[in-house]
Amino acid sequence: MSSSDPDMVTLALSKGRILEDTLPVLAAAGIEPEVDPGKSRKLVFETNKPGLRLLVIRASDVPTFVAYGAADVGVAGKDVLIEHGGADLYEPLDLGIATCRLMTAGLPGAMDAAQHRPLRVATKYVETTRAHFARIGRQVEIIKLYGSMELAPLVGLADVIVDLVDTGNTLRANGLEPFEVLEDISARLVVNKAAQKMKHAAISELVELFDRGAAGQV
Ligand code: ADP
Ligand code: PRP
Ligand code: MG
Repeated sequence: MSSSDPDMVTLALSKGRILEDTLPVLAAAGIEPEVDPGKSRKLVFETNKPGLRLLVIRASDVPTFVAYGAADVGVAGKDVLIEHGGADLYEPLDLGIATCRLMTAGLPGAMDAAQHRPLRVATKYVETTRAHFARIGRQVEIIKLYGSMELAPLVGLADVIVDLVDTGNTLRANGLEPFEVLEDISARLVVNKAAQKMKHAAISELVELFDRGAAGQV
């Protein structure tokens, strides 16, 4: 299973929302998994390309697999890459899929509520949130959550949240307002730095295939 096999390229895909958008890009790139990764319980998939196999893993774990070389290439959300740090990965391609925005949001006026104490912010993006509020010079107390961030302001757990916004439906359904955009988000192709050197030809070919596959999706 080692990714050190020089003839094998291992591509880590984010399961969930990004996988839904990645499968059509793979198809447009001419890459066919042995079975549909959206339906199977398998975690490793051979493909129609003999030197290419796929891993399907939790979105937030993709940078870790690629940084350690357990996968040579990965598809990961920019939100996850920013939170990971990303300096240990190459990011050659914006796939333009799974687009959304990372935003602050809360009940109307929530940003002005806490003037004489730190603003309480609930998020799963702890490092990104810390960096943002340090940049604008606002003291915060960060509360780490793993999902359903929109609930936090409704039950008094936090003043505001930092979370992804796409259609805005989740905010609206919970009476929350979007405030400030921290980052525009989309899924990116990332590459392990050693693999980029050791498997240069195969990885360049894969990046090229993804480039054409992603363009075919627009
Ligand atoms: P998780 O269980 O970690 O939230 P998701 O499948 O919901 O997994 O999200 C994985 C990635 O998909 C995120 O890191 C982000 O890049 C993207 N994403 C999440 N929510 C949305 C959304 N509402 N619209 C577009 N992209 C999204
Ligand atoms: C994501 C995100 C927001 C919502 C935004 O949640 O965390 O809650 O989508 O999309 P919208 O603006 O189109 O409503 P997800 O559905 O992934 O739920 P999760 O809490 O399980 O991650
Ligand atoms: Mg989610």
